[in-house]
Amino acid sequence: MNNFTISIIGMGYVGLCTAVGFASKGNKIIAVDNDPEKVNSINKALSPFHEPHLNDSLQKAIKDGYLRCIPDLTEAILNTEITFITVGTPTKADGSINLQQIQNSAIEIGKALNKKDEYHLVVVKSTVVPGTTENFVKPLLEKHSNKHCGSDFGLCMNPEFLMEGSALYDTLHPDRIIIGENNQKSGDTLESLYTEFYSKEIPPILRTNLSTAELIKYANNAFLATKISYINTIANICEKIAETDIQTVAKAIGLDKRINPQFLRAGLGYGGSCFPKDLKALIAFSKQNNYNPTLLQSVQKVNQQQINHTIDLIETELGELSNKKIAILGLSFKPDTDDMREARSIPIINQLLKEGADVTAYDPVAISNAKSIFGDKIKYASSAIECLKNTDCCIIVTEWNELKKLTPEDYKQHMKTPILIDGRRIYDPKQFNQKITYKGIGLGRKDL
Ligand code: UDX
Repeated sequence: MNNFTISIIGMGYVGLCTAVGFASKGNKIIAVDNDPEKVNSINKALSPFHEPHLNDSLQKAIKDGYLRCIPDLTEAILNTEITFITVGTPTKADGSINLQQIQNSAIEIGKALNKKDEYHLVVVKSTVVPGTTENFVKPLLEKHSNKHCGSDFGLCMNPEFLMEGSALYDTLHPDRIIIGENNQKSGDTLESLYTEFYSKEIPPILRTNLSTAELIKYANNAFLATKISYINTIANICEKIAETDIQTVAKAIGLDKRINPQFLRAGLGYGGSCFPKDLKALIAFSKQNNYNPTLLQSVQKVNQQQINHTIDLIETELGELSNKKIAILGLSFKPDTDDMREARSIPIINQLLKEGADVTAYDPVAISNAKSIFGDKIKYASSAIECLKNTDCCIIVTEWNELKKLTPEDYKQHMKTPILIDGRRIYDPKQFNQKITYKGIGLGRKDL
């Protein structure tokens, strides 16, 4: 097998999981990051973030010599055949994407390509709005390499769809591979890497032009976010109808093959590093191109409203929130990660603090990240039970497995008043309703 040598620029979730994934099947990987702490940590086989199974595979890759991390991008380009750009594309104040890191990488890659004689393929994996690879990355690469894109070096856009919490699994088992190509040779080179890598388990490969590949990523995430806001809308309607339950409705409509059951979990809405950012960027991009994407704006609005709705549910039970003790169970934007980016816990806690509540929070792994957001404005508990002690109300914000194990008795025994708002619908309403005051998103009340 002729394994490719690969460099990967930017050791965030996507970069590191891609690096470890490729290394796991014998590709030699040079990972690049300009943060010396990350470089050190990766070389010591310690993932800079919490991601299930990643540390084990990282350890193996480092031990077997398939992966090393360096700060020098030029060295990485000169010693590899294919480079993936996986740097961050954060949001600017106006919602559009900030291409600073893409720009820096493209300039440095261009300069390194200038020193290289052999053909090299550059692949943009970072999420970028349509036109970026063609009109921004390509001119920078050509200018700084003094070479011609297509003949001297190749260029592809290859979006990723991995989910945090299952990032490594998703890297190794994608539903499909999208290859946006500058020209046939660029696409052929990337396709041969994937054909070799996945062998008999190769998923469908779709080859497109660069802009289509860029749009596919946004269209994909915007659709999933739309599903979530849709089911939350129906959940809110359920709450107006006695004895209905969004989970039954979601199960039923999910059985329709045209809809499918995924991303129909009603709750506090979506957070994370992708959906909120990608929605903003797609909306800003559409507006810049004189199109007002009303549907996408509504998706965002519904997501924001779920926070107000949850606060309303608490106020219905407690009245004024001033000096009320509230327990927050779960801080990360979803389970199995310590990532707090756009976590729903942030707007909920901020609103509770604004209304004068006294907040104590617990999360199995995200507390240290949460401390950099809330500081000493809230208290932190070292277990779920400790978090519940003497509180007036508890909100389930993240559906961690360990929280699912709590019983109505746990809430009854430790809280001052056992009022539970199940923001992720992790408990059986029948079991909990009998013993404590239990409110779940998308549960029609008995007394309506
Ligand atoms: C997402 C995309 O799924 C992935 O393809 C993309 O590349 C990166 O963004 P991720 O952000 O890791 O992945 O998380 P995901 O599992 O998609 O969940 C996003 C948010 O939606 C979370 O806050 C989650 O709690 C919420 N969600 C998800 C729901 O509220 N209901 C659902 O049914 C599913």
